[in-house]
Amino acid sequence: MHHIRKVTDDLYWIGANDRRTERFENIHPIPEGVSYNAYMLLDEKTVLFDTVDWSCGRQFFDNVEAALDGRPLDYVVVHHVEPDHAATLGELLLHYPNARVITTAKAKQFLAQFGTDIADHFDAVKNGDSKSFGRHEIHFVAAPMVHWPEVMVSFDSTNGVLFSADAFGSFKALDGKLFADEVNFDRDWIDEARRYYTNIVGKYGKNVQGLLKKTAALDIRMICPLHGLIWRKNLSYFIDKHDKWSRYEPESKGVLIVYASMYGDTEQAADILAGKLVESGVTEVRIFDVSKTDKSYLISEAFRLSHLVLASCTYNLHIYPPMDAFITDM
Ligand code: FEO
Repeated sequence: MHHIRKVTDDLYWIGANDRRTERFENIHPIPEGVSYNAYMLLDEKTVLFDTVDWSCGRQFFDNVEAALDGRPLDYVVVHHVEPDHAATLGELLLHYPNARVITTAKAKQFLAQFGTDIADHFDAVKNGDSKSFGRHEIHFVAAPMVHWPEVMVSFDSTNGVLFSADAFGSFKALDGKLFADEVNFDRDWIDEARRYYTNIVGKYGKNVQGLLKKTAALDIRMICPLHGLIWRKNLSYFIDKHDKWSRYEPESKGVLIVYASMYGDTEQAADILAGKLVESGVTEVRIFDVSKTDKSYLISEAFRLSHLVLASCTYNLHIYPPMDAFITDM
């Protein structure tokens, strides 16, 4: 069975949803799942943009076959080799042995380290290169450390589609919806988009700023990320969020209080502080128990709010371990 959706006249989403994996990268909880997006362009040549995680291989191969509808697969563009996007590449090349793989030399090296040898398929590209597949001309832009060193994004100058790799992604599986304008993003998606960005790419704000500068000159009309929804309207809303996050500027004035408490005393201190802050006019105060709330949520809130209070008891003559872990991760 296949599940694909039309993105433009000749571009299809052929990815898959993962609602079974407990933790993304085996670290971050994903209670609402995640999507691994892949796209198929049906031009004079057929071009697949990325693959999916091994957990969704069965769905993906059915989708590839359905999208091709009997045509050969000519090219695969690999933007990023993290296994959530490249784990099924080796198997794909067994199915389609004549496909050429367009990627960077660094990506080829990394793929080999993951056990996928693309030497017989390799068409190297580097920053600034472009390639025509018929009507569509794709331009390749290096995006190092957004999120790994080998990452690139690509831009289709024919229709203004930016294939943004991990940038502009989100946690959450796609419930039939594919475009950000099909959901109430600010109500239902922004928190998981922020948690994805801040925990996956948040460390590399400088690199994200570099990518935003590189792409600012492009006439981007659609953003197709490797996770989450596609943007075709109101792109500036999401680009502005990433600009703010990558400059480490808060979205809201408010105080995040994260406490570590064994027997409730530090917890009470946190409550007293929160009450006094509200009495003094602070309108947004959030309190979290560091032992109870997964730190991916705390990091996301630390990006969102303007002020942060950490209150910790001691443990074995040191800071309380869950608080220590949170600070280290942050
Ligand atoms: Fe979604 Fe860095 O992989």
